[in-house]
Amino acid sequence: MKIIRTVGDLRKYVVDAHDSGKSIGLVPTMGALHAGHMSLMHKARKENDVVVASVFVNPTQFNNAQDLKTYPRTESADVALLEDAGVDAAFIPSVEEVYPEPDTRVFDLGKVAEVMEGKMRPGHFNGVAQIVSKLFGWVSPDRAYFGEKDFQQIAVIKKMVQLEGFDIEIVDCPICRHDDGLAMSSRNVRLTEEQRSIAPKIHKVLTDSLKWAEEHSPQEVKQMVADTLNGVEWLETEYYEIVDSLSMQPIEKWEDVDKKSGAVAVGCVTVYCGDVRLIDNIKYVNK
Ligand code: PAF
Repeated sequence: MKIIRTVGDLRKYVVDAHDSGKSIGLVPTMGALHAGHMSLMHKARKENDVVVASVFVNPTQFNNAQDLKTYPRTESADVALLEDAGVDAAFIPSVEEVYPEPDTRVFDLGKVAEVMEGKMRPGHFNGVAQIVSKLFGWVSPDRAYFGEKDFQQIAVIKKMVQLEGFDIEIVDCPICRHDDGLAMSSRNVRLTEEQRSIAPKIHKVLTDSLKWAEEHSPQEVKQMVADTLNGVEWLETEYYEIVDSLSMQPIEKWEDVDKKSGAVAVGCVTVYCGDVRLIDNIKYVNK
């Protein structure tokens, strides 16, 4: 596997691949790789001639300095995992390489970016759009792979792709879970042993809510989920929102989902487990 540190070398690498008619799959990551990321690498490996993964903790998407400081960085373990997954090139740049000067671009991401994470983490999605658009511009991949744990992020990236006119297929990949149901996340390593044993409750409550949804409105289900999670020691719900999976707009009635366009209702949660911010989601496919 080739390790690439500069934008110039990245461009040369992809020009060669494009010139020889090879398809390129890009998997953007912030490192601290786990089996969830690996599922994206494997899918990209199957669907493309060349797979490029990026490992870069992007400062512009952190609206909390402490979160940026404590974000896990595990470069040598990441490189070994990427090699094992058959990735062809890992782009691992410095902050100065990516941002030789401050990125002042402001993306008009519209309503998909205004709710939930967009509301709680001002500037976060603009930062995601900045880094992902830079990577898309440098690599010009045929396909780019993102995990559905960050459900709203995928909608935001699709919006950015439309705004910038990129001809890139965005491939959504299902959430990977540990055996006890906890969604895989780089942040899980920050949980204490006790918190780690409690965190799977998040997925359990979301799963239970599928049943509650049979007889309750979205508003009632939202309340039940938040109350149940908040009743568990260590857990504090920041929000539980049930939204249309395409527009990301909260729904009041199940019928508000634009099924004709292929949307479903999705419940998106952010929960603090101690001081670790965890996110997860669930689809109410039968509503
Ligand atoms: O999902 C992530 O890890 C990041 O937001 C991404 C897409 C790699 C951009 O930094």
